[in-house]
Amino acid sequence: VDRYPFHGAHQAGIVTPAQDRLHFAAFDVTATTRAELVALLREWTAAAVQLTQGHTVGGGTPGAYEAPPPDTGEALGLPPSRLTLTFGFGPSLFRDAEGKDRFGIDGRRPRALRPLPHFPKDNLDPARSDGDLCVQACADDPQVAVHAIRNLSRLAFGTAALRWSQLGFGRTSSTSRTQQTPRNLFGFKDGTANLKAEETRLVDDHVWVGADDDPRARWLAGGSYLVARRINMNIETWDRTSLREQENLVGRDRSEGAPLSGGKEFNPPDFTVKGSDGKPLLAADSHVRLAHPSQNDGVRMLRRGYNFTDGNDALGRLDAGLFFVAYVRDPDTHYIPMQTRLAARDGLMEYLQHRGSALFAVPPGVRRGEYVGQALF
Ligand code: HEM
Repeated sequence: VDRYPFHGAHQAGIVTPAQDRLHFAAFDVTATTRAELVALLREWTAAAVQLTQGHTVGGGTPGAYEAPPPDTGEALGLPPSRLTLTFGFGPSLFRDAEGKDRFGIDGRRPRALRPLPHFPKDNLDPARSDGDLCVQACADDPQVAVHAIRNLSRLAFGTAALRWSQLGFGRTSSTSRTQQTPRNLFGFKDGTANLKAEETRLVDDHVWVGADDDPRARWLAGGSYLVARRINMNIETWDRTSLREQENLVGRDRSEGAPLSGGKEFNPPDFTVKGSDGKPLLAADSHVRLAHPSQNDGVRMLRRGYNFTDGNDALGRLDAGLFFVAYVRDPDTHYIPMQTRLAARDGLMEYLQHRGSALFAVPPGVRRGEYVGQALF
């Protein structure tokens, strides 16, 4: 396929096989009325239908010669490139810092939609965190993803302003069994044990919000929560670390991605296997062990992150890392406990710095004639 339908029971861009490129954008709503917010969501929905199907904003109408063109033009002639646009609502869309109900929707704010807590070693930059609205644009061509975010930002002019955005290249997860496991910038296969679209029972249990999960936010049923974390990697330090140490920190071997307890990439890790020194082959502080469902009340998450490199600092170190994106049914059970444990005990943390953070509620899919998030309003 070269394109995915925009309409459906769930938004595209979640279990959709992860595309190669990302442009993620968070917006602050500057308008003050619900009517203006709804008008923006209507416009965004109409544009998203056009863009994901490979059309221009405005559906190919050239517009008046004296006016700016309805579409910015840089994707003309490019294929749809499997573009998906996935929309989310942040906690601050519902209530401001003083607790004021901004658009008369705070009574329907999902219980779990609160700013994430401060985790050990967090070093967050507010300018790279939070936001009222988010759009995740994924495509196989970066120009197509950037074009989509640019045109949505343009439509938002006067209603919402871009707060922060992140480009990503090289997916760091597979979300379908049809995909090969990619590698992150530490050089390790990433996404081996990820939830896959084909595991529909597990996806129902761990990704989609259920009809009765949250009686005051029934509009979110069939949706999900999106956690975004901009995680910088100390690449130069990592590159001076021995292969043995690197593998012990991850808990898998670098070439195959197999668990250090033995077997091949897709064999489950065995935490009971010990080496000749009597110590477990999978160290207690290894990432794979601490993140494994057996250590986390059986929870799974659908990871959908991307590598990023945003130039370098004055000392010649790459500003690079992993833009972590995960979709979960409930961040209170499926993200916060695991992140707390990893931040405190994961050996990898010595090489990581969390610089950006955001949580969004992702409404269910859009039916023809509706706009995204309609049931909330
Ligand atoms: C697994 C790397 C951050 C959750 C893995 C694997 C690697 C990896 C190499 C093994 C392959 C796989 O199963 O995908 C990284 C790096 C990170 C990072 C480099 C930061 C830059 C996180 C964070 C979380 C997380 C923040 C969640 C809070 C998981 C989970 C697994 C996993 C749930 C699968 C564990 C299993 O079931 O075996 N990660 N990860 N990771 N990671 Fe991470």
